[in-house]
Amino acid sequence: MKLANRVAATQNVGLNDLYTAPDPQQISFAGGYPDPAMFPQAELTNGLKQAAADRAAFQYADAWGDRALRDQLAALMMADGIKATGTDILITQGAQQGIDLTARLMLDPGDGLVVEAPTYLGALAAFNQYAPTYYEVPMQEDGMDLEALQKIQLTHPVKMIYTVPDFQNPTGAVMSLEKRQALVRLANRFDVLILEDGPYRFLRYEGASLPPIKAFDTEGRVIFLGSMSKILSPSLRLGWLVASPQLLDGLETLKGAADVESSALIQRGVSRYLDAADFPAHLAQLRQTYRDKRDVMLAALHRELPSGFAVTQPHGGFFLWLQGPAGLDMTRLQKGTLLPAHVSLVPGRNLSPHHTMASGARLTFAAPAREDIEPGVKRLTKALRQRVRQATGSAD
Ligand SMILES: Cc1ncc(COP(=O)(O)O)c(C=O)c1O
Repeated sequence: MKLANRVAATQNVGLNDLYTAPDPQQISFAGGYPDPAMFPQAELTNGLKQAAADRAAFQYADAWGDRALRDQLAALMMADGIKATGTDILITQGAQQGIDLTARLMLDPGDGLVVEAPTYLGALAAFNQYAPTYYEVPMQEDGMDLEALQKIQLTHPVKMIYTVPDFQNPTGAVMSLEKRQALVRLANRFDVLILEDGPYRFLRYEGASLPPIKAFDTEGRVIFLGSMSKILSPSLRLGWLVASPQLLDGLETLKGAADVESSALIQRGVSRYLDAADFPAHLAQLRQTYRDKRDVMLAALHRELPSGFAVTQPHGGFFLWLQGPAGLDMTRLQKGTLLPAHVSLVPGRNLSPHHTMASGARLTFAAPAREDIEPGVKRLTKALRQRVRQATGSAD
């Protein structure tokens, strides 16, 4: 049987390359998982138990999502600079479904889609199903290169821009305030939708927070995606999107067609959790733990990295970017050297639609145990030094 083209297109992002045979000795800097020690297990269990005490939680509800939860999320958004009420919010199965629904809303085959290079691999997997024409905009320290974006927009029809402005997956970069405002101006000028993916917004470890891009939206053309995955638990599959009424209607219809609705039981459980728990204190704990892990990883990398390699200094989130010398192929390095040395990362080749970032890689400091970070960095940098010696023939 011939499968639809979208299967091969989705596989083309190389998800399969990233899943390797289980290796109990491996220290993984690859998966963007939260630290399991940080799940508020007791408080979430309480919330879920309370929700389960009501028989109605086991019934179908509606595609918009639980109204009490939507109001709570709207309050969270308001406090973060986005003017929203509960009716401006659609509950999704994680931010991933928000990406998929927005792509479904906007993209016919061949439509122009701008992504950051490098970008979030799961977004490419979702987008590939809709066969867009991709335009890659290079990442800079302060977010995507807007001059490059403008050049693309002047010469090509772009319908949508996907960005992770806060602690970007995979570079950790934060888009500057000026760029956030300029991006909205460009979108207005060229009639483009901006998809702002913000699952790391609440995980800032230093410096002052910048308003979301959605806060500068004057024409209802920014969709903001939030998620509980990194700040509560990914198994809840609980995300949300904030959009203007004209976009929300279409998104709600598409959500109903995709999965009818998100689990009422889970939504009500999270709503009870938010009512009863000290969520700000929980977030403060997350920040403290992840800041410390980031510092351990950066210190080890700065000590051990051979010359020719550089890393970004993220102020939040889960990731930093390791940039190697031109010509280095991180995919080959991973297969040939890193995996045998029991350490792993996400090679850059997988993180852009045209596979242009082969000499870089994403590392996470969130998931590995604190005590594994330094030994893992030693394994990694030993392999990098070997590789440099091979490439240069040097004897040191
Ligand atoms: C930038 C970005 N967007 C979306 C997701 C998907 O998250 P969720 O679990 O909320 O679907 C992730 C997860 O790694 C991510 O890093």
